[in-house]
Amino acid sequence: DGAAMGSATAKDGWSSRAGFILAAIGAAVGLGNIWRFPTLAGESGGGAFVLVYIGFVILLGLPLVLSEISIGRIGQTDALGSFERVAEKSGASRSWRGIGALGGIAAFLILSFYSVVAGWVLYYAGVMAGELGSAIASGNPLGGAFAGESVDDIQVRLGDMLGNPTLLLVMHALFMAVTWFVVSRGVHSGIETAAKYLMPAFFVLLIGITIYGAFEGNFGEAIAFLFTPDFSKLTPPVINAALGQALFSLSLGVAGLITYGSYLSGKDGLGGTSATIALADTGVALIAGLMIFPIVFAAGLDPAGGPTLVFQSLPVAFQSMPGGALVGFLFFVLIGVAALTSSVSLLEVPTALGIGEKKWTRGKSATVMALGAFLIGILALLGYNVLSDVRPLAFWSIFENADILDSIDGFTGKVMLPLGALLTSVFVGWIADRKLMATETGLSAGALALWRFLVAWLCPIAVAIVLVTGLFPAIL
Ligand code: PFF
Repeated sequence: DGAAMGSATAKDGWSSRAGFILAAIGAAVGLGNIWRFPTLAGESGGGAFVLVYIGFVILLGLPLVLSEISIGRIGQTDALGSFERVAEKSGASRSWRGIGALGGIAAFLILSFYSVVAGWVLYYAGVMAGELGSAIASGNPLGGAFAGESVDDIQVRLGDMLGNPTLLLVMHALFMAVTWFVVSRGVHSGIETAAKYLMPAFFVLLIGITIYGAFEGNFGEAIAFLFTPDFSKLTPPVINAALGQALFSLSLGVAGLITYGSYLSGKDGLGGTSATIALADTGVALIAGLMIFPIVFAAGLDPAGGPTLVFQSLPVAFQSMPGGALVGFLFFVLIGVAALTSSVSLLEVPTALGIGEKKWTRGKSATVMALGAFLIGILALLGYNVLSDVRPLAFWSIFENADILDSIDGFTGKVMLPLGALLTSVFVGWIADRKLMATETGLSAGALALWRFLVAWLCPIAVAIVLVTGLFPAIL
């Protein structure tokens, strides 16, 4: 197997190509697929957004996935060191390594709030476990959740949770601790092993709940909503959001795939591997839509419910549907599993930087980075209660009204991530040695020409437009 470790050295890495693919899919598939994608698709009117999103995945996402994995495999070290090595081999300035540092900071910041949101998921999994327990106790394990509660009773839970800093802190700490545990154990024993068990479990749950929704929910309306494009809905902000979502969902622009790619050895081509990762991620997003919207429509809920769609609307549906308590519980377990394999990749990027650049041990690096992200995350969760008046980026009109969590989310998502993707495409398209990159990808002549064109021209131009219009919406 070309991905297996070639020598008897003690370097940690993936045990096989399949192990890498599973871990990379685990990194890509996360809250972005199951929470963010349905939210955006719902708010943006469905079909047209979905179509543009798929287009961006193919034309921009896939070429960048291939670029990042290639840089990592050439570099064989953390993101900063990998950019540096490719630059050196290409006779270019070493300062291009700054892209790796930028990615590390972005991953670190995303991790801080990602863990907070994953903490909400944990809490809801706990609530639903309690509901399942009550259903079983009342002799009807396939009963609905929240027996006898009004819609208000059900929905008030979100506000109550957000208003309780201690609860949020405990859940955030719990999730970060598990993430830290996996990363501390290393690439093979930690990250790959976690993916090996969690990803199959994830797919079984995803397919199971989707089939349930197809029978119990309004599948036809969901299909129509997701796949019938209404092009009048295609405004510049919607196109913008679709590209941002494609980057976020594929974990691009934060050097995550560079870091994971650095644990690959061998010379096998990377085109098929990249396509598999992109296809799996997009497939999961679409299936997540087909899992959530039938339930939303069957319960007469608003698809444009926004970020609370999953936490406030769906629980109402779990009340009325048969088996609602069980399915609701499994649903939040599913999101938690997806979030964990992604948060692990977010922590791995700065952890690898500490190991590679500071010569820290893995244990020390993972601890420092997890602790740092945990502390920033505390500020984010206090933004819902104690610090609810704080608007950290109030001086910047587009972030004027953003609380602490939304500010970190917005700044990383609208500034750092597109910037990372833009610089990566410029680096691969114009700076890195053509032959070096071409050999690493292993693409055939035709595919190579297409990839080069997309990375050198389409990616930088499209991402630059998104970056600028995202920062200065007045232009649109
Ligand atoms: N792709 C993840 C998701 O869709 O939830 C989020 C993410 C993970 C972004 C890892 C960046 C990253 F490095």
